[in-house]
Amino acid sequence: MRSPVVKKERSPIFDLVLRNARLDGQAVDVAVQDGRIAAIGQSVGQGRQEIDAQGRMVSPPLIESHVHLDTTLTAGEPKWNESGTLFEGIATWALRKESLTEDDVIRRATELLRWQAAQGVLYVRSHVDTTDPDLTAVKAMLKVKENVKGLVDLQLVAFPQEGILSYPRGAELLEEALRLGVDVVGGIPHYELTRDMGAESVKIAFTLAEKYDRPIDIHCDETDDPQSRFLEVVAAETIRSGMGRRVTASHTTAFGSYDDAYAFKLMGFLQRADLNFVANPLVNITLQGRMDTYPKRRGMTRVKELWQNGLNVSLGYDDVMDPWYSLGTGNMLQPAHMAVHVAQMTGRKEVMACYDMVTRNAARTLGVQDRYGLAVGRPADFIVLDAQDAWDVLRRLATVTTVVKGGRPIAEATPPEVRLLGERVTFQR
Ligand code: FE2
Repeated sequence: MRSPVVKKERSPIFDLVLRNARLDGQAVDVAVQDGRIAAIGQSVGQGRQEIDAQGRMVSPPLIESHVHLDTTLTAGEPKWNESGTLFEGIATWALRKESLTEDDVIRRATELLRWQAAQGVLYVRSHVDTTDPDLTAVKAMLKVKENVKGLVDLQLVAFPQEGILSYPRGAELLEEALRLGVDVVGGIPHYELTRDMGAESVKIAFTLAEKYDRPIDIHCDETDDPQSRFLEVVAAETIRSGMGRRVTASHTTAFGSYDDAYAFKLMGFLQRADLNFVANPLVNITLQGRMDTYPKRRGMTRVKELWQNGLNVSLGYDDVMDPWYSLGTGNMLQPAHMAVHVAQMTGRKEVMACYDMVTRNAARTLGVQDRYGLAVGRPADFIVLDAQDAWDVLRRLATVTTVVKGGRPIAEATPPEVRLLGERVTFQR
């Protein structure tokens, strides 16, 4: 088997050259110098190190817009969630939380980030539970963020799992997490004890965001209840504060159950607010619709309609091997593949759009557009996928064969070679 890394000694110009890659249907080389992209084009010159992409697609890295790293890799501890419901998940986590330590969180979160980096996921936004008088997970995740610098760009959201107003000192703990250095303000209005408390909790989140100059990412209306209407409160606060693209509404699964007349009116307000949306198709399709018999709702927000109306939508895994979702590897192509199906985005442009939701749209959600993308002068963070284009990536859930971070190749993988009766099967027409 030929190694994709080829050493060259003569007249080096660049630190690294990615040779024979495919970008927007064109064959290109990508040259890297001092950790940044120095040139993109044909025959860009020599590199001290060269990687042969073998005609495969080059892409900016994958982005995880929404995951819970403090709960990850705990599935089965101390028991499995056999019913698979949100409620047994909460009860199971309450048992696991009793033995939570900083070292425990650091070990598990770091391991999942290693899995993600190995699969080309170089930007991650993780929620971290602040409803704990000791803020154990917050302190642990701040250490993880420092430890993984140079490998993964990790953002943390202060997430009040049990409520800002419904948990003792919930607002104080949320603010303390921001003072300790957590990047983004969170919320969970649909889980507050009353509708009024839910609306008030959104206002508290915006007040804190304005006070500490932080973005907002709220778990909003993660329920099938068509009466859960906190998204309109988030939109109103976004318009009032002018925070626009610094605001993200995560999940918004109730939007999938709203009456069409209300949904149509709301869509106009959302466009005016110009906020971001994060859907979590793997977990939404699994946890929502559980109270339905048949017909059974899909329990996902209106991804296709948000996209058609020009709103920014990105995707998250949400949970990887925890009490709410026991499967997963953190590969962001999996939620993108699921979004194609759950949102019925099977048109060619629609499939491509689902790839955008785990790359450039997600860069906007995380507010990293100024340092993300394949362009001269940008940080040399990119991946090579064993595919022709984004459609092909999602069709075959392509292997990420090379991951480059800051100009340094950090991961490589060989696509599986399949043989039938001695002959190679490529799954290509
Ligand atoms: Fe979540």
